[in-house]
Amino acid sequence: MERTFTMVKPDGVARGLVGEVIRRYEDKGLKIIALRLRSFTTEDAAQFYAEHLGKGFYQSLVDLVTAGPAVGMVLEGPNAVKLVRTLIGSTNPQEAAPGTIRGDYGLELPANIVHASDAPASFAREAKLFFGEDF
Ligand code: CMP
Repeated sequence: MERTFTMVKPDGVARGLVGEVIRRYEDKGLKIIALRLRSFTTEDAAQFYAEHLGKGFYQSLVDLVTAGPAVGMVLEGPNAVKLVRTLIGSTNPQEAAPGTIRGDYGLELPANIVHASDAPASFAREAKLFFGEDF
């Protein structure tokens, strides 16, 4: 069974969408393996989003992810990485399909409610950074 990492970002937590996001994952049948509320320092954000350093939106992304607590979780299920990416929708909430989390609740980048790992390797890296342990 595959695992992935997903996180309700600070904009989603501030909007009161933690329960709704978890509801959707549970309704789909995914199993919660780990769950934690924590805040990112600027250094945490720089590590987590290192691949975006130098991009035009980098600072706004760091500001967003350090604005308050985030809720991260490890989910397990068949093809969990791709499945969760499908449930959350396109990165840009303006393009995300209705019925997806970003399509239903997101309005404008960089705020897009949730993050999810895009590959098994990023799952391992991101879960380790968020939880401080291996999954
Ligand atoms: P996330 O899935 O967490 O991964 C990187 C984040 O950067 C993304 O969600 C958005 O919050 C943000 N992002 C990606 N592309 C853009 C963009 N073109 N403009 C602003 N923010 C972006």
